Amino acid sequence: MDLQRVLSMKSGVDESSYFNNSKMQGVIISKTKITRQEVALEAYMCAAAGQTMSIAELGCSSGPTAVLVGAELIEAIERKCAQLQRQPPEFHLLLNDLYMNDFNTVFRSLPDFYRQRSGVGHCFISGVPGSFYGRLFPSKSLHFVHSSSSLHWLSEVPEELQYESAQYLNKGKVYISKSSPSCVLDAYLKQFQRDFRLFLECRAEEIVTGGHMVLTLMGRKKSDLTLLEDCYYWELLADALNAMASKGLVEEEKVDSFNAPYYSPSLEELKQLIESEGSFSIRSSEQFEAGWDAVDDQHTICEKGNGRPSYAQCMAKGVRAVLDSMLKSHFGEHILDDLFSHYSDLLENYYSLNKAEMTNVMVAVERN
Ligand SMILES: C[S@@+](CC[C@H](N)C(=O)[O-])C[C@H]1O[C@@H](n2cnc3c(N)ncnc32)[C@H](O)[C@@H]1O
Repeated sequence: MDLQRVLSMKSGVDESSYFNNSKMQGVIISKTKITRQEVALEAYMCAAAGQTMSIAELGCSSGPTAVLVGAELIEAIERKCAQLQRQPPEFHLLLNDLYMNDFNTVFRSLPDFYRQRSGVGHCFISGVPGSFYGRLFPSKSLHFVHSSSSLHWLSEVPEELQYESAQYLNKGKVYISKSSPSCVLDAYLKQFQRDFRLFLECRAEEIVTGGHMVLTLMGRKKSDLTLLEDCYYWELLADALNAMASKGLVEEEKVDSFNAPYYSPSLEELKQLIESEGSFSIRSSEQFEAGWDAVDDQHTICEKGNGRPSYAQCMAKGVRAVLDSMLKSHFGEHILDDLFSHYSDLLENYYSLNKAEMTNVMVAVERN
């Protein structure tokens, strides 16, 4: 799987787009707003006062939050400068994602952004296509880095599962599961360790001393890698695929050979990796649940009943907007409607017995 080509959120702004199906990611971003603003103010005070302040959003995608996070940070810093009767810095907001990302949808929103800022200080916005598992920016050029709902994507399917002889080790599953052999669990953990270390090493080159990063990603509640509540969305996807395979609608071999390039770490795992890499000090960390009821509160779109979509339907549409291009490239487009209709039913059942939420982990770190 050439991930740089097939991992791309559903483009555009139509009903099935990532733009219109990323409310949960919006909730996750809103839950870390206070930490993000405190840390960005610190980055400004310590590392950027009086200069151009460079802020990078990694894995920005094409949803409503791509520019929003940077815009909110810039406003908070400008407010602080007004209180201190200081000239605010010029800002450079750098929006990164993989090459196939729909940057055009993001760029089309910029005239509104600049209109709202007319009469305020300068903010320059650039798109930076490329993988965050490599260098993206010049040395010592960034003051603040943010990434949300992106770092659980690995750079590739775990290397150890790509060998011909290993392709079917995780038979009938698409991610770590209770029935996965321990070598599958190890392969996922090792790939995440390699990737996250590389991510830290690259950012360590790019971030100035005293600069900060806030990273939020899907996580696990416990050290156990196989708890259903931490991976039910993959487990149910495998169930939906297997049900289609048993009816002859999908080749069984295709299901067996699909492994998601994804890993959700526990907070402890994440902190240990940051400490062992050594370039950053952890300033704060948090594990939290993001639930669909919070989407109700914020956006009032997912009420049950009244003909409105259920949490399960919203979740299924959200997962489809994220996985669309990856599943198309492996299984073909023809299976997707049936697959997600069945997936939605399985989620409905799961949410009737369990909370409709997902675990996230957040770390705020400072460059030593
Ligand atoms: C679920 S979206 C999250 C987007 C946005 N941050 C939000 O919270 O709505 C994950 C994004 O991470 C991007 N991504 C995944 N791996 C990446 C990599 N190695 N380098 C850059 N972006 C990556 C994907 O292309 C996708 O747009």
